[in-house]
Amino acid sequence: MRTDGLNFDNIPPLSIPYGFFATAPLFGVLAGLVLLFQPQALTARWDPAALALVHLLTLGFAAQIMLGALCQVMPVVSSQPIPLSRTQALLVRGCISLGTVLLSLTFLFPGPILFSLTLAAFVIGFGLFISRLIQALIKIRPAGHTLVSIRLAAFCLLITLIAGVILLWWRSSPQTAPLAPILNTDQHALWGIQGWGLLLVVGVSFQVIPMFHVAPDFPARVQRWLPGALMLSLLLGTVLDGSAAIALMALSKLLVLGYCALASRHLRQRRRKLLDYTVRFWQLALGCIALSMVVNLATLGWPELPNRLPLAELSAILFGFGGLLAVIFGMLQKIVPFLLYLHLQRQCLTQPEKLLTLPNMKQLISTARSKRQWWLHCTALCGLLIALWLPLLTPLAALLLIADFVWLGWTLHQAFALYRQHLN
Ligand code: HEM
Repeated sequence: MRTDGLNFDNIPPLSIPYGFFATAPLFGVLAGLVLLFQPQALTARWDPAALALVHLLTLGFAAQIMLGALCQVMPVVSSQPIPLSRTQALLVRGCISLGTVLLSLTFLFPGPILFSLTLAAFVIGFGLFISRLIQALIKIRPAGHTLVSIRLAAFCLLITLIAGVILLWWRSSPQTAPLAPILNTDQHALWGIQGWGLLLVVGVSFQVIPMFHVAPDFPARVQRWLPGALMLSLLLGTVLDGSAAIALMALSKLLVLGYCALASRHLRQRRRKLLDYTVRFWQLALGCIALSMVVNLATLGWPELPNRLPLAELSAILFGFGGLLAVIFGMLQKIVPFLLYLHLQRQCLTQPEKLLTLPNMKQLISTARSKRQWWLHCTALCGLLIALWLPLLTPLAALLLIADFVWLGWTLHQAFALYRQHLN
C-alpha cells in the first residue's frame, strides 16, 4: 500500500466512521423488504414504494456510508478532521436514519405532520454534518484534487437535499409549500446521483486506486479538470433547455465514459496483482457505470426508445446498484480492516509486545468473505436486471438483495468482534 502524503495523526475515534458503516446495511435490508412486499416498486417509477426504495438505498445506505467515509478520509488526505464529537456524530446518524424512515413513510402516507417530522430530522442531521464539513473544508489551503471533488460533491448534496425537501413539500402538503420546486424530479435525481454520488467516487478514486492497489497516479490534468467539467456540465444542463441542454448532458455522459476507461486502465496497470475483491468491485462498478452512460446516450439520441424498453430503470439499476453501491461494497472490504488494524496498532503504542498478536487485515475481513460478497452482489444485480423483463422474479431478486446486505452487515459485525477480542 502507498501511504505517502497521508496523515494518520488526526483520525477520529473508531466509533464515528464505524457507527455509520454499521447502521447503513440495515437500510439495505429494509429496501429489500420493501421490494419483496411491493414488487411493483421495481418498475412503477411514481409508486410510493418505489420512491421509498430509492431513498432507503440512497440516503439510508449510500449517504450514511459516504458520511462515515468522509469523517475518516478528510483528516487522512488533508490533516483536517471534520469537527464532530462522538455525541454529535451519533445525533447526525440518528437523525438521518430517522429522517430516512420518516421520508419513506411520507411517500406512503403523505401529509403535513409526517412531512414536518421528516424535515426536522433532516435539517438537524444533514444541517449539523454539512455545517461541520464546510467548517473543515474552508480551513484547508491549498486543496488537493480529491478535496476539490469533495467540495463539489458537498455542494451537489446540498442542492439535492434542498430540491428534495421542496419536492416533498409539494407532494405532501401543496397548500403550504412556500415556493415552486427549483428542480424537477429528474434534476433532483441527477444532482444526487451523478453530482453528489459520482463526484465523490471520482475524487476518492484519485486517492484510493493508487494508494490501495499500487497503481499509477491519475494524470494531473484529469484530476484538475474532470470534477469541475462534470460539475459545470451538470449545472449548465440544469439551467439551459432544449438542444443545448441535451448536448451538455451528452457531453457529461461522454466524460464519465472516458473516466471509466481511464480508471479501468489504471487498475489494470496496478503493481499489486494479488487476487483482490475490491479491484473486482471497482471493475464491476466501472463497467456498469459505463453501460448506464451508453443507455443514457441512446435515450438522448432516440427519446422514443424508453416507451418500448424500461431504459430509465435499466440505467438506474446499472448506475446505482451495479455502479455506486458496488464501489461502496468494494471499498468497505478494504477500508474497514485497514481502519480496525490502524486503531489496534495505536492501542499497542503503550504495549509494543502486543503487536505480534494482532490479527492482520486479511484476518479481519478474509478474501473468502469478500469473494462471497462479490458473488452475492453480482447475483443480486443480475436478479434485478432479469426482473425488469420478468417481473414474476422480482421477489427472488428482493431476497438476493436482502442476502447481499445481510452478508455485508454480518461481515462488518464479525470484523468488529475480532477487533474487540484483541482490544484488551
Ligand atoms: C443524497 C440524497 C438523495 C438522493 C440521491 C435522491 C435521489 C432521488 C431519486 C433518484 C429520485 C427519483 C426516483 C424515481 O425517479 O423513481 C428522487 C425522487 C424524490 N426525492 Fe430524492 N434523493 C435524495 C434526497 C432526498 C431528500 C432529503 C428528500 C426530501 C426530504 C427527497 C425527496 C424526493 C421526492 C419528494 C422525490 C419524488 C419527487 C416527485 O414526486 O416528483 N430526496 N430522489
